[in-house]
Amino acid sequence: MEEEEFELVANALKSYEMDGVIATNTTLSREGVEDSVYAQESGGLSGAPVRNRSTAAIAALHRHLKGALPIIGVGGITEPFDAAEKIEAGASLVQIYSGFIYRGPTLIHESVKAIEPLLKK
Ligand SMILES: Cc1cc2nc3c(=O)[nH]c(=O)nc-3n(C[C@H](O)[C@H](O)[C@H](O)COP(=O)(O)O)c2cc1C
Repeated sequence: MEEEEFELVANALKSYEMDGVIATNTTLSREGVEDSVYAQESGGLSGAPVRNRSTAAIAALHRHLKGALPIIGVGGITEPFDAAEKIEAGASLVQIYSGFIYRGPTLIHESVKAIEPLLKK
């Protein structure tokens, strides 16, 4: 999505008085995994390859929402640092799917520890 599109989405979320927004989901793009033997598989790509684009989408939405409603940051959180990065980009909460499958509940505990100091700022 382009910056103007993020602005349109943010304005729609505000005008329809949405309680929150989850940014983002999986992607059909294969950017960054072109060389993988699985690159041609159909379906949504999740996990580490979507991390940076997801964080950029959170930051873009945050620029336009300016705290009007909470952003739930999701996409490519496989380390505690990744969860903190989403909060720093403007998310109020984080969601973990693929990372949870591979790392298990430890990732939740570690992510809480990484996020806590940021929330106290
Ligand atoms: C197997 C699988 C099933 C999913 N099912 C849903 C779903 O039913 N609804 C939804 O909104 N997102 C669904 N997602 C997307 C995840 O909620 C999440 O947005 C995405 O996987 C990116 O986060 P991650 O990198 O932590 O996996 C699914 C993802 C995976 C891998």
